[in-house]
Amino acid sequence: MKDDAKQTIYLKDYKPFAYVVEDVHLTFALHPTATRVVSRIQFAPTETADGVMFLHGEDLTLISAAIDGEPASYRKVSGGIEVDVPDGPFTWQAEVEISPSTNTALEGLYMSSGMYCTQCEAEGFRKITYYPDRPDVMAPFTVRIESDMPVLLSNGNPQASGDGWAEWHDPWPKPAYLFALVAGELVNHAGQFTTMSGKDVELNIWVRPADINKCEFGMGALIRSMKWDEEVYGREYDLDVFNIVAVDDFNMGAMENKGLNIFNSSCVLASPETSTDANFERIEAIIAHEYFHNWTGNRITCRDWFQLCLKEGLTVFRDQTFTGDMRSHAVKRIDDVITLRARQFREDQGPLAHPVRPESFVEINNFYTVTVYEKGAEVIGMLKRLVGDAAYKKALNLYFDRHDGDAATIEDWLKVFEDVTGRDLSQFKLWYSQAGTPHLHVTDSYDNGTYSLTLRQSHKPSPNQTDKQPMVIPVAVGLLSPNGDEVVPTQVLELTEVEQTFTFDGLASKPIPSILRDFSAPVVLHQDQSDADREFLLANDTDPFNKWESGRMLARDTLLDMIENDAAPNANYLAALDRALNDETTDPAFRALLLALPTIDDLSQEIASKGGTPDPTAIYDARRALRGAIARHCGDTLTSLYKTHQVTGAYVPDAETGGKRALTNAALSLISLLDNGDTARTQYAAADNMTQELAALSALIQIGAAETELADFADRWKDDRLVMDKWFSLQTALCEPQDAAKIADTLTKHPDFDWKNPNRFRSLFGGLISNTAGFHAADGSAYILLTDWLIKLDAANPQTAARVSSAFDTWTRYDEGRKLIIKTQLDRILATEGISPDMAEMVGRMAK
Ligand code: PHE
Ligand code: ZN
Repeated sequence: MKDDAKQTIYLKDYKPFAYVVEDVHLTFALHPTATRVVSRIQFAPTETADGVMFLHGEDLTLISAAIDGEPASYRKVSGGIEVDVPDGPFTWQAEVEISPSTNTALEGLYMSSGMYCTQCEAEGFRKITYYPDRPDVMAPFTVRIESDMPVLLSNGNPQASGDGWAEWHDPWPKPAYLFALVAGELVNHAGQFTTMSGKDVELNIWVRPADINKCEFGMGALIRSMKWDEEVYGREYDLDVFNIVAVDDFNMGAMENKGLNIFNSSCVLASPETSTDANFERIEAIIAHEYFHNWTGNRITCRDWFQLCLKEGLTVFRDQTFTGDMRSHAVKRIDDVITLRARQFREDQGPLAHPVRPESFVEINNFYTVTVYEKGAEVIGMLKRLVGDAAYKKALNLYFDRHDGDAATIEDWLKVFEDVTGRDLSQFKLWYSQAGTPHLHVTDSYDNGTYSLTLRQSHKPSPNQTDKQPMVIPVAVGLLSPNGDEVVPTQVLELTEVEQTFTFDGLASKPIPSILRDFSAPVVLHQDQSDADREFLLANDTDPFNKWESGRMLARDTLLDMIENDAAPNANYLAALDRALNDETTDPAFRALLLALPTIDDLSQEIASKGGTPDPTAIYDARRALRGAIARHCGDTLTSLYKTHQVTGAYVPDAETGGKRALTNAALSLISLLDNGDTARTQYAAADNMTQELAALSALIQIGAAETELADFADRWKDDRLVMDKWFSLQTALCEPQDAAKIADTLTKHPDFDWKNPNRFRSLFGGLISNTAGFHAADGSAYILLTDWLIKLDAANPQTAARVSSAFDTWTRYDEGRKLIIKTQLDRILATEGISPDMAEMVGRMAK
């Protein structure tokens, strides 16, 4: 039964559950269309109990329900049942029937490539049985699985098994969203880890037999993560086994179920032949992220879903630090800021903007956002910068000590920092409640040895938030003297008022400031910086982020000048870029990032925030012209870098050789503009790993000369789903904008376009959406195509359809013509009969 009347839920209405769950026992008799789930649950009333207990339940066929062995008295209500219960402790026993094979929403128990698996976060457990499906209800679980599948897994430790059955016991009290079950014809790549206190843990990555050669890297990443969490956070693993399972049909990246992490196969399976350097890095990060949740998420969970950033922001911050430690902090920080601006600043600028801790929602699935995750991580980073490393460490230890086993809140989190440092964090807390990206304006002056920096903050209104308070903004600043020496090393200025002036004495001449080093706060920085200062910082800044940022700002401004004033590419920029590319003292990965121009969406954000109307086609043309100019001006440098930085020998997915590949492949994409793709064609033919193969293919698609290679690629990889996802996405992402909708439409008719598979749907349409000028083609063809498919997907899988619909969240930036077409599409979605509450909420917020 669909729950039509989904209500808005408010943080302020939180009430604890009136019953304690002492023990949960589940028995699953698995069957594709008629799985039986028997639950036996021990409840005990608390003081607020009133004799009626509400249990969530959705799409369940109730076979029987009893309390202490007697038939239960209950009523079906919206979203579940109300049960009449005794005053004292009691046992609830129920049997329900569910149909995993027809579950296309991929929430609850479902089937993927012949295996059974579950996804319960956030509110999927209620599709498995009746239960208080809320994160603040925690209990130990015992699970019995009956099935003729050879591999039967659940949370915790294996307890007993026999022919056709297995039992698992998880001693750690957990909320239902961390429940998991898997049954399938799987094989394992095994590993082992000895924890810091000497306990042996058995590790497994479970996959379909065809994927067994893609597990080695993931296993290494898991072991590195376990070690890192011991060394850096003092956190040890707490069960005898740790299982990871790869699943082909999955709405998100991966899930941290206790002792049984379930992964989208794209986020765990890797091999040099099929995965790129970027894939390897992402897989390592996601394995770490899910593993780190064992402490930040599982041992300490969230009181309610408004506190989602408590586990996600912190765990993203932890995985970012881990990747920095494993690879390069500088490169990781730049990558993260690129993503933050491209996705989170974009979200903040539009109708879907919301605080890191939202105050209301209809469908919680719609709040697994870049704001909760990435901005949530930025907030942790700021807190750490403000209190310092030593206090951060103390506060985290206190957090683990004080809240182990709790379902906690942001207030609890901030309180440990207040207790450790004696600091009042009430103003800092605005980062959790105030939506939108703050703007930071800087002016400076120099007089007789004293340098003054005036910092001012401003805030634009967000949906439902017009009045905003000044926030605490940590601004890391360093000063350089004109000869290139750093005269004032990095210090953190704390801006707490609307405007403050900070002074530096004893300077022999006016310094060149390097402001917001390491991107110390998620803000938009406005400063009047000359080209000369930027060139100087690009050459001399000791802060790698600002060194990169200076080049980025030169690129951005010349692009804006080309777009708005029809200017020629800035010759100073081209010369400075050429010098920076030739600087052999810098990491090749860093130099590759210098070649990454601001995206069309970055530039539209910038134009829109100044009150202009971005024209995606004009921005596309300017970027193309600038790329051509770079290719011509830096041609010799690019050709020489391409030759001197080639990696020889067997492929290793490490940061060092990956950086060289990133640089040579960034060069290749530009070289291809000049040589008709000859170099790329040669690289494609010779490639023995996916990084080189895909980079060559991409370069060829971008110059419209990839026909032969695309056919060859599909032919060689037709049996590998994850590689074919790349084939779909590259074509829609990199084709000429005017062809994008047409190519996407043609690809939807390809026999391998399995639209119910979220990875395949996202590769085709995610590619199209990322092709900004193509997606925003003035005739609206891509808008209409995407809308048709969103409506179709929504009927099968609301969660993924609703997430993809956020592609429209920039619509109010554009001209009347585009706006009208998009608004018509949004209205068409809203008018569709049976549209999901997920989609209705997302589109409703955008269309407002
Ligand atoms: N909790 C998961 C993570 O961030 C994400 C997720 C959310 C997965 C909801 C599935 C469903 O690690
Ligand atoms: Zn997470």
